[in-house]
Amino acid sequence: MKVQFTETILRDANQSLIATRMPFEDFEPILSELDKAGYYSLECWGGATFDSCLRYLNEDPWERLRKIRKACPNTKLQMLLRGQNLLGYKHYPDDIVRAFIRKSVENGIDIIRIFDALNDLRNIEVAVDETLKCGAHPSGTICYTLSPIHNLESYVALAKEMEKMGVLSICIKDMAGIMSPQEAYDLVKAIKAEVKLPVVVHTHSTTGLGTMTLLKAVEAGADVIDTAISCFSGGTSQPPTETLEYTLTQMGYDCGLDTKLLKKINDFFKPVRAAALDSKLLNPVVLATDTDALSYQVPGGMLSNLVAQLTAAGKLEKLEEVLLEVPRVRKDMGYPPLVTPLSQMVGVQATSNVLNGERYKNISKEILNYIHGDYGKAPGEIDKELSEKVLQGKEPVTCRFADTLEPGFEKAKEEIGKLAKSEEDVLSYALFPTQAEAFFEKREEKAKNTFKYTIREV
Ligand code: CO
Repeated sequence: MKVQFTETILRDANQSLIATRMPFEDFEPILSELDKAGYYSLECWGGATFDSCLRYLNEDPWERLRKIRKACPNTKLQMLLRGQNLLGYKHYPDDIVRAFIRKSVENGIDIIRIFDALNDLRNIEVAVDETLKCGAHPSGTICYTLSPIHNLESYVALAKEMEKMGVLSICIKDMAGIMSPQEAYDLVKAIKAEVKLPVVVHTHSTTGLGTMTLLKAVEAGADVIDTAISCFSGGTSQPPTETLEYTLTQMGYDCGLDTKLLKKINDFFKPVRAAALDSKLLNPVVLATDTDALSYQVPGGMLSNLVAQLTAAGKLEKLEEVLLEVPRVRKDMGYPPLVTPLSQMVGVQATSNVLNGERYKNISKEILNYIHGDYGKAPGEIDKELSEKVLQGKEPVTCRFADTLEPGFEKAKEEIGKLAKSEEDVLSYALFPTQAEAFFEKREEKAKNTFKYTIREV
């Protein structure tokens, strides 16, 4: 029996615990050990890493990827991609999606985990197709959620459709840490019975279920699990790598990991964690277990956003009412999974409904666009009355939204002009215009100063 591990320290653990603020220098010295430890893959790019590099760390995200690739020649490098949204929150035209994937693979990515917040597979089609064309591994991803219309059959149907699309593995992504051990067991069993591809399970420790959930997933036949090296595990991060390795090895599984190296890797990250605690970048609250997500069925991150919104409005006493309104809004919207950006959209609307004392007196622009079909197809039926109120006789978008978009690469290239030195730069600009431009300007400034210095030296 074999089970493999994806290490998340460089991406999800970094993102979940310290808002993706770990600079490259902080983990550079341990990359060669990470490369030798025997992982299935290292999740190291995508998600918020790209934005964070440009916005906060003054790092070129492409350069970071190339450096990781160079230091880790033997292990597969993995990234997370929001389908047609790439790493942002809006839909990009197909030419940008294809160019972005081509460049990601050229710069070192092997596996691309591709998802759509609504599980609308039309929004991952192009990304999957391009990943295959580039010779890389597309992992088709199911966003896991609980609702009256999400069940084993609907998830298995999604997995089968993705298999037809040509993905090379199926990932069950439980972004909120609400998937119970029994649910994981049943879901993995059901998918393995109908689909021939390897199954990967991703969860978070937020509610305390994570470690048990991964264990049951492996018992049901999961091929790969996502874990974080122990000092960056737990809480809103992933379950601990070493603990799962210890447990599963004892149960007779071959995990393929070098435990001496795992110890070395963990020892390396301990001072990084201590420094993050000292600087308050790491808040001990996110390391604790929070079971509220189980009773309210809303992700932990969404709950803390609601508390923050209500506190800012001086209406924290309305929390209970808002928490009762969240599932109603979600039902009206056809049960979208509560993952970014839908979790924020549903939360803001529920708060507004309660604070205004009238439902949908104000409707946010994002919800208007959602009902218009700009995000894709809702998993269930959108409430008729609400939809009529919003559309006012207009036709909603029923095609794939990206089909309504003009090509964007040449336009972005023209706009950014000489500041962009490569196709990668143009893509950074297309995704995060303000942050990329500011980064290029700083880079230009630095280059000028270095040049002056060199002249003087001569
Ligand atoms: Co995650």
